[in-house]
Amino acid sequence: MSRTLSPARERAQLPIGIFDSGVGGLTVLRAIATRLPAEQLLYLGDTARLPYGTKSAASVARYALQAAAHLVERGIKMLVVACNTASAVAMPALAAEFAPLPVIGVVEAGAEAAVRASRSGHIAVLATESTVRGGAYERAIRARRADARVFSQACSLFVALVEEGWTQGPLVEAVAREYLQPLLAEKTCDGLDCLVLGCTHFPLLSGTIRQVAGAEVTLVDSGETVAQAIADTLAQQLLLRAPGLRGAHRFLATDDAARFARVGSRFLGAEIALTDVEQVDL
Ligand code: DGL
Repeated sequence: MSRTLSPARERAQLPIGIFDSGVGGLTVLRAIATRLPAEQLLYLGDTARLPYGTKSAASVARYALQAAAHLVERGIKMLVVACNTASAVAMPALAAEFAPLPVIGVVEAGAEAAVRASRSGHIAVLATESTVRGGAYERAIRARRADARVFSQACSLFVALVEEGWTQGPLVEAVAREYLQPLLAEKTCDGLDCLVLGCTHFPLLSGTIRQVAGAEVTLVDSGETVAQAIADTLAQQLLLRAPGLRGAHRFLATDDAARFARVGSRFLGAEIALTDVEQVDL
């Protein structure tokens, strides 16, 4: 459905809407807040339906459209799909439904950063099962570098470990070794020099992943790279707020607000006040 937008000067004051399947996307919010401190951020975590990473593409697309519609109804100037799984399967549907609202996803930004970081063009993507199944990262990387060799590895257990707060130690290392070993075996991915952390939860495991993968492999955090794409789009469309301002951050969750605040604080790396979290029904 096509919508008309208010003038850019008015729209600039609206928040950027950020959506994820849960609290993992707060790693993306943190990157956006660091890059664009003047911006108001409205974050929606669909905690009631987490995880998306093991669900069918049809379910993920339906959930993503509902979550985005909720943010759009509240009034946003841009939609950021912080969830890699939703970004991998629902971007065309979201862009079509909410045009001309700018919609930015982490997959395209991550692919762009990977191509820039890799010299050999041999790139591995670590992601959820649904992201890997759809092949979106592979397509986005190849669209930028046709001769790239892309290896994908579903790392479903990583999500559960991070949700539990387990980001290091022997158990996490053993799981990381199990997932990465086939990629690091020379015969499979000769010359691999870049690993894309293609899931909101994986940046929290970057210490362990780096330890297992070795220092010569560059880790690309798709969340961090999306912040630059957002800044560029807002600037092009004259939607940036005045640089001296300080933007407020508000949070919406589809399940218990107290759990969102507690677990979310870990992902954000800062305390989330319960009063800043509202429970919503989609
Ligand atoms: N947010 C998801 C992603 O980035 C991870 C959690 C989930 O499976 O919902 O793919």
